[in-house]
Amino acid sequence: MEYVNILLGLLFACFLVRVVFISLRRSKRVAPGPFPLPIIGNLHLLGDKPHISLTQLAKRYGPIMNLKLGQINTIVISSSVMAKQVMQKQDLAFSNRFVPDTLHACNHSNYSVTWIPVNNSQWKTIRKIMNTHIFSGNKLDANKHIRTKKIQELIDYCHKNGENGGAVNIGGATFRTSLNLLSNSIFSKDLTDPFSNSSKDFKELVWNIMVEAGKPNWVDYFPFLQKIDPQGRRRRMTDYFTKVLHLISGFIDERIKEREMGNHANVDVLDALLNISPEEIDRNHIEHLCLDSFVAGTDTSSNTLEWAMAELLKNPHTLEKVQEELAQVIGRGKLINEADVSKLPYLKCIVKETFRIHPQVPFLIPRKAEEDVEFCGYIIPKDSQVLVNVWAIGRDSSLWEDPLDFKTERFWESEIDVRGQDFELIPFGAGRRICPGLPLAIRMILVTLGSLVNTFNWKLDGGIAPKDLDMEEKFGITLAKTQPLLAIPIPLQLLGY
Ligand code: HEM
Repeated sequence: MEYVNILLGLLFACFLVRVVFISLRRSKRVAPGPFPLPIIGNLHLLGDKPHISLTQLAKRYGPIMNLKLGQINTIVISSSVMAKQVMQKQDLAFSNRFVPDTLHACNHSNYSVTWIPVNNSQWKTIRKIMNTHIFSGNKLDANKHIRTKKIQELIDYCHKNGENGGAVNIGGATFRTSLNLLSNSIFSKDLTDPFSNSSKDFKELVWNIMVEAGKPNWVDYFPFLQKIDPQGRRRRMTDYFTKVLHLISGFIDERIKEREMGNHANVDVLDALLNISPEEIDRNHIEHLCLDSFVAGTDTSSNTLEWAMAELLKNPHTLEKVQEELAQVIGRGKLINEADVSKLPYLKCIVKETFRIHPQVPFLIPRKAEEDVEFCGYIIPKDSQVLVNVWAIGRDSSLWEDPLDFKTERFWESEIDVRGQDFELIPFGAGRRICPGLPLAIRMILVTLGSLVNTFNWKLDGGIAPKDLDMEEKFGITLAKTQPLLAIPIPLQLLGY
């Protein structure tokens, strides 16, 4: 009997040693990170500016961190080397999305190119269609006259506002321009009045979607709350999506009728999509693709423009320098043509520097590990959410000299670009999930910014001195300015040019 007890004791001791050994080995291989509290994990560390809080935490725990956000295991990547590993070397392992609950509204996540998994053949087809039928150089060249017209309207609006010394809300005006630019490229229609701040239109809906998607949602940290939707976020998003999809569906019906009657010019994105067989892209996917384009393309572009203008007003010598370049290449007072952009290297440096310091999607669109993944000596557990902190990479002092300063000259002799090859600067992401709208966004931003500073001189409203301009960021689905930029346009002719 005693013999059996000794044997059982030994077996139990072996079992304990093995359990301790395995858990030690496992915990060693999980990336470092702050100790999680019961239930909330590390949620309390995020604060209202998670991009800044996580940048601070990375200084302590390193470029790969493991956090527990409620029930969700989250990996935060904060260096360009590790970002390259996630989005290039091990791209496939991290190519699917971690889908926030609100994006399931109206089945959006099942049809949207942004959220469907990369192994879904529909994702590949839609990405191919976007690359060849919507955002290719030829297609964009074919509809550049639409963008010129919309930018002319923006300049007219600034003229009208500036006539009596009135200020322009730069973010609001460029938001309307970006929205109309997209809606004209897609449907050949204005979806908001470029001269009015009216809130009863499509603009308000797109705006509400951005606000709703940007707010923290308990369900994303505690998925068991999904059915209850305690903050009503999915309910509100369903309402906004339903309205937008209904409008889009109406435009499609209208177009189908026009095409049947043979009285349509066949030039815009909707035509390109309807020309493709429904087996390749059906009606549902077309509707959700249009919705995606408005959500992904409007705020990102207009916020970038607002930040670029804010930086120029804060740094008057940079503004003067780009105005000189524009005066020499284009001639003062004129709009910029897309074909001129290649002759405007300084303007391009300004836009790159804006993307570096104010990336609009600070964690990219969250990725997900579908399986346990071996990564740089650690295990990333299955189902982890993966965030790439592009904001931190843009301010990494080992990559950028004086990272907090807006220094456009840093790009003057540099080959670094935003197209997903240089991981120090990836505001559009990289790898197979890189932003498909990049070619359009770059054209839109360069031409709009160039036109705004080539037609006007700008003064901050309220007599604010450049050095006192508030540059506080507001965290949401994109990184907006907390205080809207209000600036008074002074037509360059009035200055005697
Ligand atoms: C300044 C402007 C823009 C910025 C900074 C931006 C940024 C981004 C980023 C960071 C991603 C995620 C990339 C990743 O996970 O690696 C993305 C994806 C996406 N963007 Fe953009 N974007 C902009 C403009 C646009 C425009 C104009 C459109 C379309 C009209 C667009 C459509 C999309 C779509 C559909 C996706 C999802 C692609 C997928 O998951 O396969 N974006 N964008």
